[in-house]
Amino acid sequence: TPRVFSGAQPSGNLHLGNYLGALRNWVRMQGSEFETIYCMVDLHAITVWQDPAELRHATRELCAGYIASGLDPEKSILINQSQVPEHAQLAWVFNCIARMGWMQRMTQFKDKAGKNAQNASLGLFAYPALMAADILVYHATHVPVGEDQKQHLELTRDIAIKFNHDYGVDFFPVTEPVIEGAATRVMSLRDGSKKMSKSDPSDASRINMTDDAETIAKKIRKAKTDPDALPSEAKGLEDRPEARNLVDIYAALSDQNVDQVLAEVGGKQFGAFKPMLAELAVEKLAPIATEMARLMNDQTEIDRILTRGSERARAITAPILRQTYDIIGMVPPV
Ligand code: TYM
Repeated sequence: TPRVFSGAQPSGNLHLGNYLGALRNWVRMQGSEFETIYCMVDLHAITVWQDPAELRHATRELCAGYIASGLDPEKSILINQSQVPEHAQLAWVFNCIARMGWMQRMTQFKDKAGKNAQNASLGLFAYPALMAADILVYHATHVPVGEDQKQHLELTRDIAIKFNHDYGVDFFPVTEPVIEGAATRVMSLRDGSKKMSKSDPSDASRINMTDDAETIAKKIRKAKTDPDALPSEAKGLEDRPEARNLVDIYAALSDQNVDQVLAEVGGKQFGAFKPMLAELAVEKLAPIATEMARLMNDQTEIDRILTRGSERARAITAPILRQTYDIIGMVPPV
């Protein structure tokens, strides 16, 4: 069976970009022809320092966010990366497959490390090799993500191809990125040239999945726009990144494409469109926030779900790691 793997970092808040770019598609793929595995990637989060208590809280809250968004621990395997040790073990092997030059080309590393790359952790540099291991330790074939992960998934393919070639095997599959929907790259509400991100210091730049109705409405009301009315066709959104972003969000939340949305709202001023968007966003997001809060009242249950999911996962990952070790020449235990 084709297998889906994806994950998000438990650092900061789950936001509208994560939801529209990734989570919604994860829910869609669940219970279809795919076996679905979704991860809270805590080992990725520590590539930059995390307060331990906050990391634990964020991991549980992320799990609550997954379930509140519609992931079902019976239909999908929900795991905590650090509880499935084969991820980190396979990552070491991939560190020895990936080339320095490949890693140096990763734009996310350049963005996150900033000017002082010498001071970045080695883990931040090696991050995409761990990501490749997350995926390939399940022989996953499909990876639903937002646009920003595309380059990492190309690297995952390169690692699989090079491993297979170096050892003369046809072992790791070449994975397909699944980048779908009207909002595969949700932009900051304050700056249409930056993506919406957990690490943006301005909370007004993003809609958090835990925001209440009033906060959502206020952030949309204050979102940066230009002074023109909305166009009646998509061409009119070129060079208007903030307008484009709000229309994309509206399209994604209402399950329409941009043309359908503009047929409805073309000609309106933002003063009229923003309240429509706010109402739609609150209608779709507020129930998720409520459910997240409810789930967070029983964290023992969340921990049980993660433990159970991680056990199920190991039934898949342990044999694949063992086969990998056999291929590369590690002596098996007797
Ligand atoms: P992370 O935690 O940054 O984001 C989780 C998912 O949300 C998507 N996303 C967005 N989509 C649209 N617009 C945005 N503004 C936006 N911001 C985030 C991301 O594309 C992602 O799908 N490296 C990954 C986590 C990861 C992973 C993996 C993903 C680790 N191992 C294996 C897939 C497979 C990350 O940092 O995602």
